[in-house]
Amino acid sequence: MNIIRVRDYDEMSRQAALFISSQIAEKPNSTLGLATGGTPVGTYENLVAMHRDGLDFSQCFAVNLDEYEGLPASHPQSYAYFMHHNLFRYINLPESARDIPSGSAADGEAECRRYEQAVRARGVDLQLLGIGHNGHIGFNEPADDFPRVTHRVALTRSTLDANARYFTANEKQPEFAYTMGIGTIMAAKKILLIASGSGKAEIMRKTLLGEVTPSVPASILQFHQNVTVIADEAALGLI
Ligand code: PGA
Repeated sequence: MNIIRVRDYDEMSRQAALFISSQIAEKPNSTLGLATGGTPVGTYENLVAMHRDGLDFSQCFAVNLDEYEGLPASHPQSYAYFMHHNLFRYINLPESARDIPSGSAADGEAECRRYEQAVRARGVDLQLLGIGHNGHIGFNEPADDFPRVTHRVALTRSTLDANARYFTANEKQPEFAYTMGIGTIMAAKKILLIASGSGKAEIMRKTLLGEVTPSVPASILQFHQNVTVIADEAALGLI
C-alpha cells in the first residue's frame, strides 16, 4: 500500500486529480470507477480544471460505486445527479460512456445483476474511494462478511446520519441503496482511497493498521495489490 500524506483537503484533491490524470495518460481508454460524497468534490474540481487545460476524457468510461434506491437521476440527491453536477457536465466524457445503478429501476435486484455484469465485463482500471466513518466503501456497511457483488443494502444509522445534511426537511432520505460489492471493488486493477479531516482519523487507523474484518469493510484494502492512499495530516493523525 502506498500512503501519501498531504497537508490538507486542497492538496489531497490536487494530488488525487493528478493521480487520475496520470492513469488517463497511461491508458486513454481507462474505465474509471468514481465515487460520491463530500471528499471527492475537490478532486473533481481539479479534474475539471485539468480538462480545461487539455485533459481528454473522450475515450474513458465511467462507472460509479453506488446509488440510492428510489431516486431518479433527475433528483438532486441522486448520485447520478451528483456526478453530472460536479463532473460530467464540464468534461468531454460521452454520455454513452457512463454507467451507474439506476435508482428508479422497477426491479432493484435485477438492476444490481445487470450492473455487476456490466462492470465485470468492462473491468475497472482505477477505482476512486472515499471512506465512511464506519469504514464503509461504496455502501458496503459493516457486516458479518464481505459482500461479493453489487447488491441492495439497508443503510446503517451512522451512514444515514452522515448524509442527512444533504436532504431538506421535506425530502425523504432513502434508507436503501444499490452498491458495488467488496468483491466488485477489489477486482479493480488499481484503487485510490482519499480521506480528509480528523473525523476520519480513527477509521483510517483501523483500516490501514487494524485487523482485516468485515466489521471495518475498508480494511480489506490491505489485501489489494495496488492501493494508493492520499490523505491529509488530520485524517492520518492517528497513524
Ligand atoms: P464523505 O463520504 O466523503 O462525504 O465523507 C465518504 C463515504 O461515505 O464514502
